[in-house]
Order: sequence, then C-alpha cells, then structure tokens
Amino acid sequence: MQTVQQILEHNQIPSSLAETINTVLNASKDIAFLLQKGGMGDILGCAGQENVQGETQKKLDVISNDMLKDALKACPAVAGIASEEEDLPVAGNAGGEFLVIYDPLDGSSNIDINVTVGTIFSILPSNGGNPAEEATYLQKGRNQLAAGYVLYGPSTLLVMTTGQGVDIFTLDPDTKEFVLTQGQAQITPTTKEFAINMSNQRFWAEPMQNYVADMLQGEEGPLAKRYNMRWIAAMVAEVHRIINRGGIFMYPWDSREPNKPGKLRLMYEGNPMAMLVEQAGGLATNADIAIMDIQPELIHQRVPVVLGSKQEVEIALSYHK
Ligand code: F6P
Ligand code: MN
Repeated sequence: MQTVQQILEHNQIPSSLAETINTVLNASKDIAFLLQKGGMGDILGCAGQENVQGETQKKLDVISNDMLKDALKACPAVAGIASEEEDLPVAGNAGGEFLVIYDPLDGSSNIDINVTVGTIFSILPSNGGNPAEEATYLQKGRNQLAAGYVLYGPSTLLVMTTGQGVDIFTLDPDTKEFVLTQGQAQITPTTKEFAINMSNQRFWAEPMQNYVADMLQGEEGPLAKRYNMRWIAAMVAEVHRIINRGGIFMYPWDSREPNKPGKLRLMYEGNPMAMLVEQAGGLATNADIAIMDIQPELIHQRVPVVLGSKQEVEIALSYHK
C-alpha cells in the first residue's frame, strides 16, 4: 500500500511543502494517541479559559493547539501559523515559504463523550509577507496549496488535497504510517441527506427556512424526495460523511448573534473544507458565492456554510436568489 509520502512524491509536491504537511501529520498522530488514552490521561474536561471567540476551551483544544504550534514552529519551511485557538498569528521561521492555518480539534464538544473529532488544516503561500501580521494571512481560499483533515474516529484517517483530487489515508496502528485506502474520492452529485442544527430553525433567514421546510415535506413537497437528517456536531465528521456518501451540510447565518455571519470560521474551517469539497466534485458556498472566492477581512472571520453534493447545493442556492 502507498504511504502519504509516496503519494506526495508521485504528485511532485515540492519537498518544503511535503515537509510542512508531514509536520502537521506527525503532530496529528500524537493527538490521536492522546485521544486514545481518553480518561486515563488528565486531558478531558475544560481548560478553565475561553478562546478569542468566547468559547470555553477544552483541555484537549489547548493541548492539541500547543502540539501543532510547537511542531510547526520547528519546521524551517513554515513562515507563520494561525490557529482557531490563538488570538494572534504566530511567527514561524525566517525564510519559511508557508502559512499553516488550523483548527486543532474541531467538534471538541464531542471529546468528553468519545465521539469523532478532527484536526483541520490549510496551507497558504507566505509570499514573503510579515508572518506576525494578520494581513499576510488574509488570502482567498483559492490560494491554498494544500488542505485536509485528520479524523479521529474508530480509525484515524487523513483526507487531503494538494489540488490534484482528494485522497483518503488510514493510519496504520502498527507502522504509524498513513496509507492510501481510497484515491480520488468523489462526492455524489445528488443526495437525500441533509445536516443542519434544527434547533436554530426559528433564527434562520427566510430562504433557509423555506428550503428546509420543503425538504421536510419529503416526496409530497416541491423537492419530491424523502430526506434523511444527520447532525454529529463536528463539521469534520459531517464533511467526511458527505465525501463518502454525499449529502448537504449547512451552518447558515442566524439571528442569535446578527452581527456574526455564522458560527463556522472562514480560515480554519470554511476554506480547507471548501477546497476538499470542490476537489471532490462538490460545491462549497456561503449561500451566495463560493467560499474560496471570499476575500477574508479578519483572521477569525465567520462564514455561513452550505456545502456538499453539487445538485443539492444548487437547489439550496436557488432559494437564496
Ligand atoms: O467548530 C465548530 C463546531 O464544533 C463544528 O465542528 C460543528 O459543525 C458545529 O460547531 C456544531 O455546532 P452546534 O453546537 O451549534 O451544533
Ligand atoms: Mn471547529
């Protein structure tokens, strides 16, 4: 079986980028190991502090953030780092070529109940910009050189793109190598499965209310299909399901905090997932335009998300026109 290293070589990925990706992967293997220890290590529960977004940090949010940050700072190719759990960008190495942007542990409310979580990463060119300045990172998702996630579930999986399709690797517990288990994954264009946090229904904008109401009418409604619903509360797991069997995932704008455009973060979650979804033949939008075409204005900026099977996302968009 081919290792991730062999695939990177086969895809002619420059060695500095491959080294950067490997640094993320090595840290993620350590995170996987910690997660497996679960309640045996002193890693569960809250860290007793909040992140810049005002969310309670879990101990493992903090630990996994530090593990990635320390590893990446020691990688010569890394010019700078931005993390969902850091207020400000962190400078890496002079002469480094890449910016690594990550959500160290997505879906962290799942940690304490032993349900799937993941690390999401995005790699941008540093273009010689000052890595201590936010402006250097504010590049459109289209600029991403690589994006992926490591899913800590029953198996530890790596799902990654370097712009040449999406490959899925499984962490071999014996060799500690990620080996290719599914090359060139493709999202089915149609689906009967949607994912949205229905408890926010009354806060959504009217187009979203109408679309979901029509889905709920099933085969008797205008969409003429009986839908199924899933909500894992970890974007990384929802996207993984969609890559495997199609679906539509939505975290739309809602009026709970009207000044915020949604819950999910453009740089740490929206852009890397959008690159994966597009590379697998799906669509990833903010209910208006492609997520990767949004010009970021803030490093912790939020974004509404409607992504997944191409034809279903087009249906969702048609309600927003
Ligand atoms: O990172 C934010 C996140 O945990 C996503 O992984 C997930 O999709 C979402 O929040 C769940 O939000 P809620 O708790 O509102 O269902
Ligand atoms: Mn997250």
